[in-house]
Amino acid sequence: MSFILEVRDVEKIFTIRKGFKTFRVMALRGATLTLSEAEILSVVGESGSGKTTLLRVIGRLYSENKGEIILFGSTVPKKLNKKQEIDFRRRVQIVFQDPFSSMNPVKRVKYILERPLRIYGMREKDEIKQKLEEVLQDVELSPAEIFLDKFPHELSGGQRQRVAFARSIITAPRIILADEPTSMLDVSIKSSILNLMLKLRQEHKIAFIHVTHDLASARYISDRIIVMYAGMIMEEGKAQEIVKMPLHPYTQLLLKAFPDPRGGKEKLSNLGEPPSLISPPEGCPFQPRCKYRTIECENLPPLYDVGGKKVRCVLYKI
Ligand SMILES: Nc1ncnc2c1ncn2[C@@H]1O[C@H](COP(=O)(O)OP(=O)(O)O)[C@@H](O)[C@H]1O
Ligand SMILES: [Mg+2]
Repeated sequence: MSFILEVRDVEKIFTIRKGFKTFRVMALRGATLTLSEAEILSVVGESGSGKTTLLRVIGRLYSENKGEIILFGSTVPKKLNKKQEIDFRRRVQIVFQDPFSSMNPVKRVKYILERPLRIYGMREKDEIKQKLEEVLQDVELSPAEIFLDKFPHELSGGQRQRVAFARSIITAPRIILADEPTSMLDVSIKSSILNLMLKLRQEHKIAFIHVTHDLASARYISDRIIVMYAGMIMEEGKAQEIVKMPLHPYTQLLLKAFPDPRGGKEKLSNLGEPPSLISPPEGCPFQPRCKYRTIECENLPPLYDVGGKKVRCVLYKI
């Protein structure tokens, strides 16, 4: 099988200053993943686990300290020149958590959607008009004329996120990186945005990397799920299998902590603190919170292959 995107052993360290001291935040360690055409991959984990960092490194908003990102078989340079950037953004788009802050508040929807088309050289008025109507139809905002004239603040949160998706598909990308696209929306409209992502995948063959802290929405739309903890991938597998039979003790904890139709609402905060990423523990980062901890956990386990899934835990050592 050939992948449209490969992330190989990527590391991202932030340097922060506190007073006269500088600290290194190990936001991402050894991140490795693949994405196939029209696949939906969700990256799940608590706040601070490195999900946004991973997405921003892939989306070239941050450059990695180590590792490699391969798009359609070619390594993506760490820093893109203007031409490379235009080419990259045509194929890989990002949708942010807060559609309001990602849109110019003094511009109408028409301008917001037209801008990428102009960047990609579309000049013909009728062609632009047709394209705008087409993408608004794709994201189910109609009639188009009404929405084109609106300012972002005149739209509901759900409508704004639909405009963000309309903008992201206007250059016919192959991959959309979506960072918690439903987390700021009312519960009642979250699923309609997830359904929109499913529709865009179906109709446009777009692949998604979908970041969320909510395992339920990840299960709803994903083919595969990656579980992150403290900047590391702890488990990976088919979405249904991760939810049905989580292997890693951390995934088991996540499943218990999130509202699930099958019950169980333990709060993660009651179960210990996530580790500091400034000097993360040697070995498995989850060991301070893990009830199965043994002396073996002092060494970082690799991702073991277990029946089609991958899991970073000594419990599954072969
Ligand atoms: N620009 C930045 N500068 C310094 N530290 C950062 C920056 N962005 C993220 N971090 C740190 O990296 C870690 C991972 O953050 P993030 O990727 O935002 O996690 P998540 O999206 O899972 O909540 C956190 O400890 C966060 O404080
Ligand atoms: Mg985040």
